[in-house]
Amino acid sequence: AVTRTFSIIKPDATRRNLTGGVTKMLEDAGLRVVASKRIQMTKEQAEGFYAVHSERPFFNDLVSFMISGPVVVQVLEGEDAVKANRDIMGATNPADAAEGTIRKTYAESIEANSVHGSDSDENAKIEIDYFFKPEEIVG
Ligand code: CMP
Repeated sequence: AVTRTFSIIKPDATRRNLTGGVTKMLEDAGLRVVASKRIQMTKEQAEGFYAVHSERPFFNDLVSFMISGPVVVQVLEGEDAVKANRDIMGATNPADAAEGTIRKTYAESIEANSVHGSDSDENAKIEIDYFFKPEEIVG
């Protein structure tokens, strides 16, 4: 089925002018950008977004990194979008990511790993709603 997922192009990628490079890889994987905006996340926004990780040892560094520069938040649409996006992103740690994936191609480290993608349809809906109003999404 055609579904939607939520993506973030992270500060390490925007800093290196890779918004287009990452988006091209998403599009080549069959995903369509149906909403997109470049934002500077606030600390509160990043903490809320990553609330499920708040007890993890890397939480504070993760929040600092995510507010260290602009990000591009996107809604992606396509056949089985969550899986298609996770496949093209590759493993969280670029050292483990397969050839041809975004993280293998661009990521610097497990933290500066260039992209975020929702891990389930339920979380995709929550994450899309966190950043976008319905009228900002044009399918
Ligand atoms: P993301 O998909 O955005 O979700 C949580 C993020 O935490 C993850 O990608 C990584 O970039 C980041 N992170 C930093 N350190 C770790 C770690 N040790 N294990 C897992 N995720 C980490």
